[in-house]
Amino acid sequence: MTKSVVNGGSTSHSELKSVVVQDQTFALNGKDVSYRFHIDEATGDIVSDHFGGTVTESYGKPLNLGGGGWSTHEHIRREFPNQGCGDFRSPAVRIKQAGGFTVSDFKYVSHEVVNGKPGLPGLPATFGGDEEVTTLVVRLHDSVSSIQVDLSYSIFPAHNAIARSSTVKNMSDKEVTVDKLASFSTDLPYDEYEMLQLQGEWVRECTRIRRKVDYGTQGFGSANGYSSHFNNPFLSLVKPTTSETQGDTWGFSLIYTGSFAAEVERTPQGLTRVLVGMNENQLSWPLKPGESLTSPECVSIFTPNGIGDMSRKFHRLYRQNLITSRFVNEPRPALLNSWEGLFFDFDESTIYKLAQDAAKLGVKLFVLDDGWFGVKYPRIDDHAGLGDWEVNPARFPQGLKSIADKIRQLEITEFSKAQSLPSIMQFGIWVEPEMINRNSTLHDEHPDWVLSAGQYPRTETRNQLVLNLALPDVQEFIIESMTKLLRSAPITYVKWDNNRGMHESPCPSNFHAYILGLYRVLKELTTRFPDVLWEGCASGGGRFDPGMLHYFPQSWTSDNTDALDRIQIQFGTSVVYPASSMGAHVGAVPYELTGRSTPVRFRAHVAMMGGSFGLELDPAHIPDEDRTQLPELIALAEKVNPIIVRGDMWRLRLPGDSNFPAALFVSEDGSEAVLFLFQIRTVPVHNFPILRLEGLDSTATYRVDGHGPYSGATLMNGGIQYKFQGDYDSKVMLIERL
Ligand code: DGJ
Repeated sequence: MTKSVVNGGSTSHSELKSVVVQDQTFALNGKDVSYRFHIDEATGDIVSDHFGGTVTESYGKPLNLGGGGWSTHEHIRREFPNQGCGDFRSPAVRIKQAGGFTVSDFKYVSHEVVNGKPGLPGLPATFGGDEEVTTLVVRLHDSVSSIQVDLSYSIFPAHNAIARSSTVKNMSDKEVTVDKLASFSTDLPYDEYEMLQLQGEWVRECTRIRRKVDYGTQGFGSANGYSSHFNNPFLSLVKPTTSETQGDTWGFSLIYTGSFAAEVERTPQGLTRVLVGMNENQLSWPLKPGESLTSPECVSIFTPNGIGDMSRKFHRLYRQNLITSRFVNEPRPALLNSWEGLFFDFDESTIYKLAQDAAKLGVKLFVLDDGWFGVKYPRIDDHAGLGDWEVNPARFPQGLKSIADKIRQLEITEFSKAQSLPSIMQFGIWVEPEMINRNSTLHDEHPDWVLSAGQYPRTETRNQLVLNLALPDVQEFIIESMTKLLRSAPITYVKWDNNRGMHESPCPSNFHAYILGLYRVLKELTTRFPDVLWEGCASGGGRFDPGMLHYFPQSWTSDNTDALDRIQIQFGTSVVYPASSMGAHVGAVPYELTGRSTPVRFRAHVAMMGGSFGLELDPAHIPDEDRTQLPELIALAEKVNPIIVRGDMWRLRLPGDSNFPAALFVSEDGSEAVLFLFQIRTVPVHNFPILRLEGLDSTATYRVDGHGPYSGATLMNGGIQYKFQGDYDSKVMLIERL
């Protein structure tokens, strides 16, 4: 018999405790979210009851549909579906036992509620104090195989976020193999859903794709060993009517840098299963008696207020409770990176000249990109040197410290004192420590360190091979060679690149072992060098994932510096990741891959929507009229940067939908905001749209770009109309609350 259903709605019930356990019913409550499940008395299975807006009590068991057919479980919403018991949907777990069975039968044993959140062994994860997060651990046991599972649910009430991971422990006396272990698994009730993913390629990262969830399995993932350019480890489910500003939205973000899988399965009976976790084709993880395997964590956020609200919740959660760097909330120095200006073609004098020109524009951080290292095998192109992290004496006869010191003494010509950053030029460097060229001393000495599969050919891409970070010796080598490098010169920024996927692997489990090795290295180095500003990169955004962000507060968003493409890429990336985490640079035009030219003002305005603004050009080789505009644009980037880094982002109009993309960043206390307006192409004899702002206080008054005062109500209900002039026109408006 079904009890009457209480309509959840979107009311906040602040009096609800964040974890409530009653009999064998469990409720996790956030500001506008409830996540509920119970233990089935007869089977011991965990049954999902609700994941959505706030509900205050159980609202009944699922209807028993009775009525024949072969399905015994397909009407049951399950939290941790196993294989072999009559549930014909995709399982969350598959373990091969010594006898070859892959059946399992996990039943509830006990649970524990702990304040705060324990860390995950060897894995990056969200963190928080007792007042921010509460954790519920539910223990399950399969008495046939003697395997135990702990499902860990941590609720961050302020963010409507639930972080889940699963740990399998082998309590038997025989080795078993974990072939699949989802981080998040749940079944949603019968309803119409659409799914949103961030799909792409090199130079085309994070394109929003939205499609109907139809009968059958629809999913995506990555298999190149990393989170990948192809699909970001993020999935969102929405209702068909959900938009940026309203509607039920569920987001699932996997804190993992390795290959992953997101499965959405709508069954013939109408329920929708969601599974997010490691790619099962690259797992086969052996567990000896007593050993355990913990899955990465998947964070799920629900909001009734649309995709934009979900994004802002992820941004705040990740800034406050994921990124460990001390720079997370700090304004970032405007930088110049040598790559697109000089590529491999430089020596000490051309680098110094580039840094001098950068200083004259007001740049505060000079980054020496690829091509500075290699003694026996100098890195003068991409055929040699990876692995040999010693400066190339032919290019820098006085050594790295000497050029770094010289650059740090450059006087910076400041257009205006926009930021309170120190005005001494900082020096940063590029590395790609996980890689090796055959032409390297490291390869001469350690060909056995290359990721490979026995006698199979070691395939190269970009003329390079991957080091096997699953090996402790390789981890030590990277930690020590990077430590030596960072102690050899005054380096305050590191760009950690990675430019190819994993091909041959000694065994499937090596993929995950590599990622654990990588995390060990990153943890050690970021702990040893907390004052270095670390930036991740993988040919642009090939590893723009929450796992890397745990260690590195920012990532190079894309190798594509075409500003028009960049709006799309940065808006797409912002669906999950805060603007503070995006590196965004002004490149020269025409941009090589698209042949497109956009004005320097437009390029700079797009780049300053990223937390780490920079230049990726040689100022000596750009038109005078562009160069003369740069100091003012850099000063503006620095001025707005604190709001970009710490504020909330409102995507007011999307680049895919509109000729006039726009975004508003509002400081956390609401006292300041910065509005970015773009026109892509001129439409002759046509009106300009009125843009209604969001995220302001309707009762407060504001000055907009020196005009006003206007009430928040006027700005949000009336709006702003700006007269653009010409293709690729843009405007940045500063807004202050009076
Ligand atoms: C790929 C990166 O994305 C570029 O920015 C640059 O650092 C090159 N690698 C250097 O090889």
